[in-house]
Amino acid sequence: MRFHRNGVASWQAVATAAVIASAAALWGAGRDGGRAGPAAPVPLQPGAMIAATADTITPAMVALGRDIFQGKVAGGLCATCHGKDAKGVQGLGPNLTDATWLHGDGSMEFLTTLISTGVMKPKQGASIMPPYGGTPLKPDQLRAVAAYVHSLSHPLGG
Ligand code: HEC
Repeated sequence: MRFHRNGVASWQAVATAAVIASAAALWGAGRDGGRAGPAAPVPLQPGAMIAATADTITPAMVALGRDIFQGKVAGGLCATCHGKDAKGVQGLGPNLTDATWLHGDGSMEFLTTLISTGVMKPKQGASIMPPYGGTPLKPDQLRAVAAYVHSLSHPLGG
């Protein structure tokens, strides 16, 4: 792994390490049967299939998804790596607002699966994406955050 030697990049490396460490702690607690763990929402298995299509997207889902993405609901960490406006953070996470997809076709099916699985083998940077971005999400929260990401490149009704 290669580290860039300027202040901003090393701060980001620390932030990323913290995100990944807390993600590992969360998933570790889940595997332990949750004894003495914090009261967290029931985590889904990474890669769990959640039925979702573009037809099921509502404005309310998109609004909830934006709040999760920006960390206002469910402790979502997406904005840490993808930026508050989802336009990407150099070295941490790619732009999600354009028509370029590194790992699939940008559909709701692709987004729900990718977000629940995370990305262990990134194509561009050194950073990985933990499952759910590191915070266990309930099925409706997963669908909402996928709907928000979908809406960035597919305007509703368009
Ligand atoms: C720890 C940093 C991190 C967090 C937190 C994170 N991601 Fe990611 N995300 C990444 C990386 C790294 C990739 C893969 C980039 C690559 O392949 O080079 C990625 C890829 C993606 C992709 C696929 C992009 C493509 O072009 O195919 C989507 C969609 C996505 N993330 C959504 C989310 C959402 C939604 C959340 C919050 C629930 C989230 N991410 C949280 C780092 C993160």
